[in-house]
Order: sequence, then C-alpha cells, then structure tokens
Amino acid sequence: MLILAPSDPILDALRTFSFDGAVTEEIERDGLRYFVNAFWTSAQRRAHSLHEVSYRACFKPQLPEFFIARLTAPGETVYDPFSGRGTTALQAALMGRRPAANDIFPLGALLCRPRLGPPTISAIAARLASLDLTGEAPAPDDPLLTFYHPDTLRQIVALRRHLLSREPDATDDWLRMVALNRLTGHSPGFFSVYTLPPNQAASVTAQRRINAQRSQKPPARDVKTLIFRKSKSLLTDGGPPPHPPALLTTGPAEATPGLADASVALIVTSPPFLDVVDYAGDNWLRGWFAGIDPDVPRAQHRTTSAWEAFVRACFTEFARVVRPGGFVAFEVGEVRGGKVLLERNVAAAMAGLPFDLLGVMVNRQSFTKTANCWGVGNNAGGTNTNRIVLARRRG
Ligand SMILES: C[S@@+](CC[C@H](N)C(=O)[O-])C[C@H]1O[C@@H](n2cnc3c(N)ncnc32)[C@H](O)[C@@H]1O
Repeated sequence: MLILAPSDPILDALRTFSFDGAVTEEIERDGLRYFVNAFWTSAQRRAHSLHEVSYRACFKPQLPEFFIARLTAPGETVYDPFSGRGTTALQAALMGRRPAANDIFPLGALLCRPRLGPPTISAIAARLASLDLTGEAPAPDDPLLTFYHPDTLRQIVALRRHLLSREPDATDDWLRMVALNRLTGHSPGFFSVYTLPPNQAASVTAQRRINAQRSQKPPARDVKTLIFRKSKSLLTDGGPPPHPPALLTTGPAEATPGLADASVALIVTSPPFLDVVDYAGDNWLRGWFAGIDPDVPRAQHRTTSAWEAFVRACFTEFARVVRPGGFVAFEVGEVRGGKVLLERNVAAAMAGLPFDLLGVMVNRQSFTKTANCWGVGNNAGGTNTNRIVLARRRG
C-alpha cells in the first residue's frame, strides 16, 4: 500500500501536534504509516451541550472537530455517510460549515435535524403547555407496560399520536428528538423503569427478567417535565451559528444520489464494524415511537472480506462526491479483542480508487499503552482506540 512522501501539511500537523506535551509517535507497520498520540480527549474541551444525546457506537465530537478545523474552511461541506446521531453534522454546523449527513436508518435524520436549528426554550415550553397528553389508559396486557407505568405510557402514546398526526414543525421535531432520547434509560431522567442505557433497548422478555431480578415496577414519570428538563440542558450552550443549509439523506452510504459530484470537502465517519452492533435490536422501541420500521437492511458483515467489499463500494461513492483535494477520515475500531485491525481492510478496499492513503491516526487514550494499539496487550473486549484512516481525493 502506498506510503506518501513524508512532507505533507496535514501529516506535519499530526507530527507536531501536542496537547499535553506528549509527542506523536510515527510508526510504519505492515506497509501502513501510523501516527499515535492523544489527539483528542474529553479533557481538552467540553463538547457543545447540543451533542448530549445517546447513540450506540457514537464518537466524541472532538474527533470530527479535529479534522473540520484543520481540513476545511467555513461554508464548505462536511459529510458523514454513516451519521448515527449526527455528531459530524452538528459539529460542522457549530463551526459554520455546511452539514451533510446520511444514515440507512431514518432515526439518524430525526436525531440530527432538530439540533441543527433548535427552537427557543420558550417555544418548547409553550408547545408542551399546549399539548393534551391525557390519552387513553393502555390495555392491561400492553407489553410496553414492562417498561412504563400506565400513566406514563398513556402520555407517551398521546405524544406519539400527536407527532404522527401532522407534518412536524421545528418545535415538534425537537420534541420528538428529545422524547426519543428519554424513552429508556437507567435513571429517573428517563420515562422508563431502570433498563439498559438509553442507546440500547432491551427486548420485552429481557426487560421482564431485569424487573424480576431487581424486584422493580415502572414508576410514574411526567413526560412533559422530563422533556423540558432535557431540552434546557441540551440548549445550555445555545444553538449553532448561522451556517449553510443542511443536507440530510436516508439510504445506503454506497449510493447517495442526493449528493452532487465533487461537492464535499471532508468526510468524517465511522461505519458499522463488522457485525459488532445490532442497530435494529437497539432501535426497536425508538422505531416504534417515531413510526418507522427498525428492520431496515443494514450493513452487518460477518466476515472481514464481506466488510472489505462493502467499504470498497463506499469509497467508490466517496470518490464521486468528494472534490479533488478533499479528505476522508474513516474511523474504525479495534474489533474481535484487537485481533482484527480493520484499517488494513480499509487500505486494501481503497486499492485502485483515486485516493492517496495518508496514514492511520491512532488516538491513544491515556490508559492505552502503545503495545495495546496492536492488539498485543490485554485490551480485550471492545473498541478501545479510535483508529482513523486518513485519505485524500486525488486531483
Ligand atoms: C458506528 S455508527 C455511527 C455513529 C456516528 N459516528 C455517531 O457519532 O453517532 C454506524 C451507523 O451506520 C448506520 N449504517 C449501517 N449500515 C449502513 C449503510 N449501508 N449505509 C448507511 N448507514 C448505515 C447505522 O444505522 C449506524 O447509525
């Protein structure tokens, strides 16, 4: 695989980067050039409050911020083809860039859009006050009573009905986004009884087990109060500054006709890593609330060769939408206990496409020893380092 000439502005920026005095280690391994440092940590700067919604396998806002700041100018388009909660798009808007985001699951746009142009807290309060969430009592055998007190469930169902009954305006869009984030969780800030963290949803059967083990019954919660509280906290830092209008699409990253040729300056993204996360299972309850089918066929690849073919299809599409000289920052995790280093598959998938592979950045967390970056240590169980393949579209 291609290793670029050592002097390049972005690579020089990586080499000279220092946050806490640590210098960047530059390593060549199996034909790839790696840059290892603590490029972003939560200690550097708290992210904007609007980012605080949960999503499975989301990345920290500091990750897209790092690339947006160094590789784009205000007004340029920053795109995430696997947008999840929309971390890249929101960060782009916060930095005055044009946000573009796509996810195969419609939940992505529902979580992202309202935060790009939030309503005021007084508009939210007024809308909540105007809603009648009395609703009808749920049937005693409603399986959702495994999660919710009957009074809470009647409010949730009434809110859902309201949101599905008409084309949502910006305030309804916001209420739905916040409600989607309050549906389930493990504290009294959520509508449900104690359950899995908010970015996952237990099945009804699993929740029955959790309730029995903890001898718990769903407590009554006030839906409007919880939505208002979370809205206030999300809006602590205000909304994004003026930015070019967002482009949000829903569909496979491999085919995005909504994006014009050569229109994107930078992609910052994190695709599904093999079959590590079951997005359909995690999203069944949120899908129900939003009135969308959670069973969209999503990329879940069991073998690395199937995953590599999928990544190649994505990069073929990226070659169309990224302008010459534009960049792709493609984040992959360490999977299978560090035994599979997906950056190698990404490098192989790009072969023959019009991209120069600049290198692989490894964001070392303070607890990660360098040896562990190669799956050598005891880093088992999960995706412990951010590994970002950085590529530039050839001119
Ligand atoms: C690792 S998550 C991205 C998380 C995101 N970086 C964030 O901060 O929220 C991967 C996302 O890819 C989506 N996805 C899976 N297969 C896809 C495909 N073929 N095209 C587009 N999106 C897909 C999933 O729905 C999921 O939201």
